[in-house]
Amino acid sequence: MARFSALAILCCSVMFLGVVRCKTVKRDVKALNEIKASLGWRVVYAWVGDDPCGDGDLPPWSGVTCSQQGDYRVVTELNLRWNKLQDTLPAEIGELKKLTHLYLSFNSFKGEIPVELANLPDLRYLYLHENRFTGKIPPELGNLKNLRHLDVSNNHLTGTLRDLIGNGECFHSLRNLYLNNNQLGGGLPDQLANLSNLEILYLSHNKISGAVTPKLVEIPRLTYLYLDHNSFVGRIPDGLYKHPFLKEMYIEGNNFKPGVKSKGTHKVLDVIDTEFLF
Ligand SMILES: *[C@@H]1O[C@H](CO)[C@@H](O)[C@H](O)[C@H]1NC(C)=O
Repeated sequence: MARFSALAILCCSVMFLGVVRCKTVKRDVKALNEIKASLGWRVVYAWVGDDPCGDGDLPPWSGVTCSQQGDYRVVTELNLRWNKLQDTLPAEIGELKKLTHLYLSFNSFKGEIPVELANLPDLRYLYLHENRFTGKIPPELGNLKNLRHLDVSNNHLTGTLRDLIGNGECFHSLRNLYLNNNQLGGGLPDQLANLSNLEILYLSHNKISGAVTPKLVEIPRLTYLYLDHNSFVGRIPDGLYKHPFLKEMYIEGNNFKPGVKSKGTHKVLDVIDTEFLF
């Protein structure tokens, strides 16, 4: 934020002197105008002018954060939470190539999560929770090398964890994975152990079945594990109770053998990622 402000001040003072005009990269202007055209009046009323990063006296569009990269301004954050958006998410979102944060939660987006989101190499935070997305989560998102936080909870998503993580060659930066309150099926694949940076795995309220793989013990910094309200059977691998990082594990609402116990106490999860500040 401080870095952004410094750049913005530099950019604006240079503009004021009339030496260089800081332009927004055309690709982002075009993409956001297309997104504006397809999203309808609820966001559009606050999106004045042609340039989403602001133009002359006009401020940036609400929810749009830009930063200076080289000679251009680019869109780095888009926050459209709580806007009652009800359409499909336009594929043009994949043209905002410098996006690092995308917040679309608490709307009513329907249809599939566009695979074009996998075209955003800098994306670190992807919040799609509390919508009406259907279909499978595109496994291509696993190629996003910087993705740390993926929250698609509280949608109508189907498919399996195996569909999502394949052979485990993906999601290597991912720390927080929120898949809870969907309709995911299948089992817990061993390949979860390859998501070696995972700290939060939130799978509650799905239809995931089978045994809990002992491979989970191999995720070095796994701290919060939520398996409750699925169709798991058998026992919890002993190693999980002894895992040095695991603070909380919820397992109620499954078909485990009698005597299988949770670990830890309920806590508010919302502020666990310290980089997520609102
Ligand atoms: C997944 O992890 C296992 C065990 O550490 C390793 O042998 C395997 O090569 C990994 N697979 C991929 C695709 O990275």
